[in-house]
Amino acid sequence: MGKESNRLLLGATSAVLLLLIFFLYAAFFTSDVTPFDSWKHKLSNWNGSLSSRKVNKGVEVAEPLLRRLVRGENQIQLKTTGFSCYSELHSEVCVTNKPLVIVDNKALTAYLQSSNVQVKHMVRPYPRKEDETAMKQVSPVQILLGNATSPTCDFNHDVPAVVFSSGGFTGNLFHEFNELIIPLFITCHHFRSHLQFVIIDFKPWWVKKYSHILTHLSRFKVINPAKDGAIHCFLGAIIGLKYHDNLALNSTDIPKGYSMFDFKQFLRESYNLKIENVLDIKKPVFVLISRRKTRMFLNEDEMVGVMEELGFRVVVATANQMSNLDKFSAVINSCNVLVGAHGTGLTNALFLPAGAVVVQVVPLGLDWASTNYYGGAVAEMGLHYVEYKIEPEESSLLDKYGPHDPVIADPMSIFLQGYNAARAVYVDGQNIKINLVRLRETLMKAKKFLGH
Ligand SMILES: *[C@@H]1O[C@H](CO)[C@@H](O)[C@H](O)[C@H]1NC(C)=O
Ligand SMILES: *[C@@H]1O[C@H](CO)[C@@H](O)[C@H](O)[C@H]1NC(C)=O
Ligand SMILES: *[C@@H]1O[C@H](CO)[C@@H](O)[C@H](O)[C@H]1NC(C)=O
Repeated sequence: MGKESNRLLLGATSAVLLLLIFFLYAAFFTSDVTPFDSWKHKLSNWNGSLSSRKVNKGVEVAEPLLRRLVRGENQIQLKTTGFSCYSELHSEVCVTNKPLVIVDNKALTAYLQSSNVQVKHMVRPYPRKEDETAMKQVSPVQILLGNATSPTCDFNHDVPAVVFSSGGFTGNLFHEFNELIIPLFITCHHFRSHLQFVIIDFKPWWVKKYSHILTHLSRFKVINPAKDGAIHCFLGAIIGLKYHDNLALNSTDIPKGYSMFDFKQFLRESYNLKIENVLDIKKPVFVLISRRKTRMFLNEDEMVGVMEELGFRVVVATANQMSNLDKFSAVINSCNVLVGAHGTGLTNALFLPAGAVVVQVVPLGLDWASTNYYGGAVAEMGLHYVEYKIEPEESSLLDKYGPHDPVIADPMSIFLQGYNAARAVYVDGQNIKINLVRLRETLMKAKKFLGH
């Protein structure tokens, strides 16, 4: 061959190589599922492809991580029998470090080999066990222990499964974080994404809304067993989620002692939020949560006027804007002060940078709920908390009932009639006309926290 054709060959080879590199690059960085994942998926679909060495290694890694989720008696039980369930006020959780088979035959069933007599457990994997309204939207999972032959695997997963329901109170931001996202973090973070989510009562919109969080907790695409109908095998499982308190977590009861600080850091990583501390915000920004149905601010424009006079740029956030967390988390993350009436929008405080201020407007009759759902939690988030308790004159209930009605004069008597009666009046039937002079005083107080 002459020099000329050698050069030609060299050129062609480089072109092919470049093309190959380009395709590999595109495959790796443009899709959610990396080529590794899809190969693995195909391989694990092939019966017997997971060598026992690999499975053993998975068990070695997963076993101590699973064990950390149970305490005392339950830990001993897990060690001796490979299976343990515990029940608390809000949640019921079963943990196994033995291989199990999961299949959805109308209802989700988990099979676990055991030499003991046949036992059947029913778990509804959503941490609002005491709340019938929520639990009506949550399907049970049946766990069968025994020596019955279990179905043969279509898919072998060399990680544990985390089984939970996306039913319950989803559709409300507070509940989505309170009953699912924070419990998922508490239950899963120490696995460093070596786990597989299996979601029942599967809501595609919910999975999409929280995709950044789910992909940061698990490296695998979530499984919807009702839809895929396949038989999945895992080397262990957690069925149900650990729960602590309203928008809160208790480090002493979390593997590796993760705290609210770690959770906020996790949120920043998941949503790629840049601002860690409020001091990094150059121009002060207020965000005002605008409610449109109940506990609505009747003089919102004037409130914005007061905020602007204090030198803040104001973002008025509507429910529609807030529903896109991918975008809205960044808006909140660049704010110094969040102002809102008691309600789900205050959950956005989770995205505020450390040192920011939350001003909760407390409607008539909702003191207890305001403190218990948000007030206490906000202080734990490394934020300053300021309460603006409205006077009867600022509530639409005064016009409706008059000053001497028990609704105004004695809210406790209404609560004694039962939660539904009180809810209709104070939660669903009340709007707010803020006293602008008092608002200004409160916001000045908030501003002091910022050191401006
Ligand atoms: C998988 O392999 C086992 C044993 O090697 C065999 O008994 C079983 O029938 C196989 N299952 C499938 C679906 O091929
Ligand atoms: C399963 O357990 C039952 C009762 O413990 C026993 O009678 C039966 O022989 C066992 N079956 C197998 C296949 O081991
Ligand atoms: C946190 O968890 C520990 C261990 O379970 C418990 O003893 C403690 O009371 C909990 N703290 C709170 C504030 O609930």
